[in-house]
Amino acid sequence: MKFSVLTLFPEMIEQGLNTSILKRARENGLIEINPVNIRDYTTDKHGRVDDYTYGGGAGMLIQAQPVYDAWKAVTEGRKVRTVYVTPQGSVFTQEKARELAGEEELVFLCGHYEGIDERVLEEVVTDYLSIGDYILTGGELASMVMIDSISRLVPGVLHNEESAETESFYKDLLEYPQYSRPEIWHDKAVPAELLTGNHKIINAWRLEQSIARTGKYRPDLLAKYRERERVLNLLYRRKKENAYLIDAMERGTADVLACEGENVVAIQRSCNQVMICAVDYDAAVKLLSAIPGEVRLVLHNMEALNPVLSDMLGLKVSEPYRQGVYTLKVSAPVPYKNIRQVTLRDDVEYIKEHYDHGSPEYVQSQVEAGNVYAAFDGERMIAFAGMHADGSVGMLYVEEEYRRGNVGISLAAYVMNLALQRGGLPYAHTALDNEASLRLQEKLGMYFAKENVYWLYRGKED
Ligand code: ADE
Repeated sequence: MKFSVLTLFPEMIEQGLNTSILKRARENGLIEINPVNIRDYTTDKHGRVDDYTYGGGAGMLIQAQPVYDAWKAVTEGRKVRTVYVTPQGSVFTQEKARELAGEEELVFLCGHYEGIDERVLEEVVTDYLSIGDYILTGGELASMVMIDSISRLVPGVLHNEESAETESFYKDLLEYPQYSRPEIWHDKAVPAELLTGNHKIINAWRLEQSIARTGKYRPDLLAKYRERERVLNLLYRRKKENAYLIDAMERGTADVLACEGENVVAIQRSCNQVMICAVDYDAAVKLLSAIPGEVRLVLHNMEALNPVLSDMLGLKVSEPYRQGVYTLKVSAPVPYKNIRQVTLRDDVEYIKEHYDHGSPEYVQSQVEAGNVYAAFDGERMIAFAGMHADGSVGMLYVEEEYRRGNVGISLAAYVMNLALQRGGLPYAHTALDNEASLRLQEKLGMYFAKENVYWLYRGKED
């Protein structure tokens, strides 16, 4: 993911975002941070970028010309979301971070002095964002806060042990208290539950503490948490049928838009995808008005909804898919060992050539997002599989000569185990006539939902 920051103080951005996790992510090519000095683009012969404000008022204003030319040089005609960091913007939240993390490229525009000429803002800015109700001397610190929190959501930036930290906030709860050695400090003992070595007891204690803290400091978040739990409990009544939404809600990536009994409409904002779980046609149809018009994909489980959704949103309807769900809590065995994440240094062309259900651009973006895994024979790629943006496990392809062995099942198990480790409910969607894949899922220990699922999509299916 690429961040360009238009600023008068590029060294602040360079230094501020070049330590620890973000430094590692930059070195690994997962994120690119491109500070751009607005002053380099001024046509003023004295290098000025600011001037007095028409109508009077204290302070200077950054002029339109250098900002516009810097922005044009960075975006080169591409449509790039451009964030103006300003205390006048809407407040940046974790949800906004998740949404922006779905972009491939972002531009941040940092103001100073009294701000920036309104006319250039009108032409380039897509989002006005603030980090809170207080005033800083400029937008640099605010843009760094946003870039930091967006970057850690880019797949691969956090390693497993680091991402665990995010769990509680995703689920609308504050973090529980934590303790390290010594066991007693200033006469205060570490809570006994944490010393039991029993994960059930430890997790129950942590949840109880998180709920208590959230209730005390953030009752608004606790109400959201309770509502989410209520909906999840309803969805679990038909666990296999509702797996896709349960998975997204358990991972904290879906927000409920409307709910009536066991009929639920939710959205994954990061991929602009709506998920509907329906049991009753009339009740479900009433909830559809909650769907935003610009949605890119809709996933649901009731054939009768296809014409309604297609008409309403102008989307095409896919063939039906079977939904396989891995309901166990323990990882599946992975007998074939030479499996790892695919990077851009690998043979991505091989994947583009052999993946039939998506465009080369889709494959490229999936690899860049760190969602594709491959099995190798020595250095040679012999199979690949991945996780789709919605969370489902799929994309499996195995080279002809390796189909009889354990490569395919190992790779599928490997990806499914990763989906399980993320705290979700692993699932896969498979065309009804793809018997090889359906058999493989059975062998993996997956169960099939009674109902098929349908995808509605805008253009090419991927
Ligand atoms: N610039 C100055 N104060 C700011 C704030 N609170 N958020 C974003 N940008 C700012």
